[in-house]
Amino acid sequence: MDWDRLYASRMRDVVASDIRERMKLLAAKQLIHLGGGLPDPDIFPYEAIAAASNRIWADRAVARTALQYAPSEGYGPLRAWIAAYMTGLGAPCAVDNILITNGSQQGLDFVAKLLLSPGDRAMVEIPSFIGALRAFDAYQPTYVGLPGGNPTDVKFCYAGPDFRNPTGTTMTLAEREALLDMADASGMAILEDGCYERLRYDGAPLPSLIALACARRGSVEAAPVLYTGTFSKMVAPSLRIGWIAGPAAVIRKLVLIKQASDLATSALSQMLLLDVVEAHLEETIATACAVYRERRDSMLAALAEHMPHGVRWSRPEGGLYIWIELPEQIDATVLTQRALEEQGVSAIAGAAFYPRGIAAERNTLRLSFSMIPTEPAREGVYRLGALTREMLQSSAAVTAISTA
Ligand SMILES: Cc1ncc(COP(=O)(O)O)c(C=O)c1O
Repeated sequence: MDWDRLYASRMRDVVASDIRERMKLLAAKQLIHLGGGLPDPDIFPYEAIAAASNRIWADRAVARTALQYAPSEGYGPLRAWIAAYMTGLGAPCAVDNILITNGSQQGLDFVAKLLLSPGDRAMVEIPSFIGALRAFDAYQPTYVGLPGGNPTDVKFCYAGPDFRNPTGTTMTLAEREALLDMADASGMAILEDGCYERLRYDGAPLPSLIALACARRGSVEAAPVLYTGTFSKMVAPSLRIGWIAGPAAVIRKLVLIKQASDLATSALSQMLLLDVVEAHLEETIATACAVYRERRDSMLAALAEHMPHGVRWSRPEGGLYIWIELPEQIDATVLTQRALEEQGVSAIAGAAFYPRGIAAERNTLRLSFSMIPTEPAREGVYRLGALTREMLQSSAAVTAISTA
């Protein structure tokens, strides 16, 4: 059977994620895992989830709802809770402004499905979250880079303002305002990825783009922003609960996509999650922030100690990632391959985070500090530093021979 002949043209640019491939390797052997940004399972709220589960099974009427199809829009009490939560973050929302999704990854896919026809222009931060790029790829857009790209005829701009994946950097207030100005002037929408908004370890929180847009336009109904949120990093990813917040008319369109895609998110997951966040969200966020703050600090200290001169890195105020810029002569794809095979250390070469059609900076690298305790992480950075030094020395030797 010649399946290749049958695949739709939209699959042409859809390729396997380097990160997912490496996660398979992780399962296969003992690695120091500085690659994918999984949350640490040691901090999941096991007792709270078990108690919530017991409460569901203890009451047959509740259990019946939990095992039934949920409404496509989402379980009403959870939508109401998220609307209040968004209001607390400065973006006043009602229930009709919220669609529950199967993780925020599904929200990114749905917004691209709603807005992109083949050949449309999508603006993305350079570099960008690989999962978003892969979701957008299927709708065959042409990519425009942020900053610097021309917003004319752009359908939407995808931006992660806080501690973004992969660079760990945060948009200043002035940059947020400038992006909203650009949206106002060009008519494009903004797709705001709020995945890490609450994982802040220092500095004062900045208003989200949707909050700023609500303040400018007087209400979320007039805001040009769709916001994707998720409980994956604040509670646990396997519940697969995310949401899209935006104008009610757009949410109604997205509900049609949800119906056609998977009918509804699991009612059981939504009910469990609601029970946990009602009583424990701030506590789970505080635990995550305390653990990740320490790991970030330790990794930054290890980088300062072990990286050779000429290597630079971001200093994230939150999130899970540090972005490394190696000296230009080092190809990070070679470095990460060697680190994996020779040193047992996983890291992700930055090239993975560049959209199709936009040249990647090949000397960049993403590290994550979320998954492993400080000591093995320091050892991993030490090994990466030693390998970088060795590659620098051999490239200097090659230059010396070729100029001799
Ligand atoms: C920036 C960003 N957005 C969205 C997601 C998707 O997360 P989920 O689908 O679990 O909500 C991730 C996952 O790592 C991410 O890093």
